Amino acid sequence: MALVAQLSDPHLRDDGADPFHDPAEALLLAFTQIATMDAKPDAIVLTGDIIDRSAKGYAHALPLLRQAPVPLWPMPGNHDDPVGFRIAFDGWADFASDHLSYIAQIDDVQLIALDSTLPNGCPGVDWSRLNWLEGIIGHSQRPSLLALHHPPFATGAPHLDNPGFQNADALLHLVKGSQVCRVIAGHSHRAIQTIWGGCLSSTASAIGHGLSLSLCGTQRHKPVQMAPAFDLHAIGPEDLVSHQITLGPESEETAPIRSAYQGNDRQVVSEG
Ligand SMILES: [Fe+2]
Repeated sequence: MALVAQLSDPHLRDDGADPFHDPAEALLLAFTQIATMDAKPDAIVLTGDIIDRSAKGYAHALPLLRQAPVPLWPMPGNHDDPVGFRIAFDGWADFASDHLSYIAQIDDVQLIALDSTLPNGCPGVDWSRLNWLEGIIGHSQRPSLLALHHPPFATGAPHLDNPGFQNADALLHLVKGSQVCRVIAGHSHRAIQTIWGGCLSSTASAIGHGLSLSLCGTQRHKPVQMAPAFDLHAIGPEDLVSHQITLGPESEETAPIRSAYQGNDRQVVSEG
């Protein structure tokens, strides 16, 4: 069984103009929670929007991410810069040549990290990515976790569903009946669950700000204050359970480790 922590959408800024809480602090608090769990996750999957569009690059994000207490698998979102991402995370994963998808092993589960931001910035997968995925799925004998930034399923929220996920039907065709047993995504900044492709499929709450919800589409979605949270997925032949962990005030148990992280953080910042 693999135990996977899914963190999403920190939107790390480098100008200090966060609309609500500091996502860097929330990220480090999530690392602290993960480090102190009695059953420590095998890995962290970070499902995109690592930086905010306002950020000039990844120099402010990398020192934070290197403090992850377990292996961290970074994925790009629509706020990330594909060229900068590939350079910044060179060596973190074996990226495909013409998109930022990759596979990795997490215990006995195969992670399929599928880059869902098309070159034009829209959500979806093109034929290059579908062909890549078909090759992966066709050879996989292990239960697989499919991770994307954009949810490939309809959410019922117009601001997420329009424009829709390009080639969602072709992706669904590949996933159905495959070894993919769980689908996770970000982008929504909200917790959403559904069944898609025969799999439990979900989006995670954000480490960064929340987003408002309008199911009728009469109100434009906007950043809102929301407690940062992350998901914990147990994935195995006989286990398929997810928990949402909301990041609240630190406990006495986590305070010493939190202090250690703050010390590292200050040291990194002082290095410029
Ligand atoms: Fe986002």
